[in-house]
Amino acid sequence: MENEVKLTTGVVVTFAIAVSALVVLPYMQVRDVKPPEGLKPYTSAEQRGRAVYIANGCMYCHSQQPRSESFAPADAKRGWGRASVPGDYYYDKPHLLGSMRTGPDLLNIGVRQPSKDWQLGHLFQPRAYVPESIMPSYPYLFEIKDKADPDEETVNLPPAHVPPGKVVVARPEALDLVKYLQSLKRNYPILPPEPRDTTGAPAAPAAPDAAKPAGSS
Ligand code: HEC
Repeated sequence: MENEVKLTTGVVVTFAIAVSALVVLPYMQVRDVKPPEGLKPYTSAEQRGRAVYIANGCMYCHSQQPRSESFAPADAKRGWGRASVPGDYYYDKPHLLGSMRTGPDLLNIGVRQPSKDWQLGHLFQPRAYVPESIMPSYPYLFEIKDKADPDEETVNLPPAHVPPGKVVVARPEALDLVKYLQSLKRNYPILPPEPRDTTGAPAAPAAPDAAKPAGSS
């Protein structure tokens, strides 16, 4: 009986520690985060586009979390934008941080590639723009027809990628998805986080020389 009690206690304590470290503490850190001034809520079309992004698994190849220069110097060099902060995701429910980077990070794709024509064409056939691309094409977001209806949007593809005598028109899902991609812009200024003082006392002025060992200069 004694062993069962020890086992149960061990399980409960381990579980409690894990929940505190992985759920409770992170929640307390971000629960009071406010949206940055430059961040706008998604429009209805952008929200629909976000659902298309989720449904098509874009997240399995694209992250949305550029990292800090000290942590990952390559991110800034690739033009993926400043390191993201919790407030950048205020309207993201669920968030789409992603963990795989088979393709580039997309949190700032709206800054890097604002062209609607490029985005639509690239979704229809990535290799029309990036010959060596391994990104899948999404032909079912488009329709190939003889002639576009007056209210339909024709995709301006490089001519070699348009079937002869036909036009490629974007379905509403493709148009919404591109609106979502164009909305991905986290390039507004953010204030650096306020330094945290664990004691509650005003921070003491820094004494830069105090920590130096005697004789070093
Ligand atoms: C199998 C992995 C894979 C999937 C799934 C995928 N992509 Fe990509 N994506 C890539 C790769 C690789 C590139 C870089 C080559 C290129 O531009 O085509 C890329 C490039 C891009 C770019 C251009 C990025 C830049 O910085 O120029 C955009 C925009 C994009 N993808 C959007 C999407 C969207 C939207 C979806 C879902 C509908 C998606 N991708 C699904 C692999 C993927």
